Amino acid sequence: MQIWGNVLCLPSVNLILKMRIITLKSEMSHWRQGLSSQSSVGFVPTMGALHHGHLSLVSQALMDNDLAVISIFVNPTQFNNSADLEVYPRTFEADNSLLETLPHDRIVLFTPRAEDLYDGPPLSKRWEFGSIARVMEGEFRDGHFDGVGTVLQLLFEAVSPSKSYFGEKDYQQLLIVKSLADQLGNTNEIIGCPIYREVSGLAMSSRNQRLSEQQKVQATLLYQIMKYIKEHLNTMSWAELKSWAELQFEKDKDWQLEYLTLADSQTLEKKDDYSKDKPLRIFIAAHLGTVRLIDNMAVN
Ligand code: PAF
Repeated sequence: MQIWGNVLCLPSVNLILKMRIITLKSEMSHWRQGLSSQSSVGFVPTMGALHHGHLSLVSQALMDNDLAVISIFVNPTQFNNSADLEVYPRTFEADNSLLETLPHDRIVLFTPRAEDLYDGPPLSKRWEFGSIARVMEGEFRDGHFDGVGTVLQLLFEAVSPSKSYFGEKDYQQLLIVKSLADQLGNTNEIIGCPIYREVSGLAMSSRNQRLSEQQKVQATLLYQIMKYIKEHLNTMSWAELKSWAELQFEKDKDWQLEYLTLADSQTLEKKDDYSKDKPLRIFIAAHLGTVRLIDNMAVN
């Protein structure tokens, strides 16, 4: 009965999906080299637990390119905390269902295994990204950007993208990836895409899958705080606004604020006051229960 079930099930899954799935790095390079030199490939690297924010990146990649490659790989070297790596959501079945909504003949799913991608045990290289890597995520997640740089170099080598797509939700990562692409010196153009939010304002994130329904409501605090700050930067000082925001977190014991920073959008240099002359952003990281959330918002 079970065998019959499998026989029935497998071909129908293939018929529905028709999406090419590649696991080996060598097969990915081989597939890429087989494409005509005219074909452009947009690349969306992810760690899975896909959501509509990811899909918006893939849509952009498909609008700009002939084909899109999406990778799903939970990269161990960018987690400074092994407990965080362990609980990171892995939802391969649901990811597949979401990818089914895309034109299967134009996308390839790349799901490498760690030992193959890293040619052995996953180890980080040291990168020099300068001051943009030393603040905020760089300060609170030791080695995080070395891990991101290392895995992206390996993924870029395998996929040879024409363009790669990253969400502004991880705005600091986006700047790091632009620096990485400059250092690697190939023609891979890095495209930043706007943050995709729930109607409630909550920025879409794979980590939201670890939030209960009630926590999802609580988590809108990040958006509300940034919006309030943005609306009052003209009339209140940054120090006043920061104290007000800290108070909002203290009111709810489920929250623990890690950082709240006003910074230059290009250099990430901290600012103590609002100025209209340069683009600035608010950056925030906080723990809601055991889930770490980050968000950011342009203020001018
Ligand atoms: O943003 C992410 O999901 C990851 O940092 C990335 C870019 C896929 C590298 O592992």
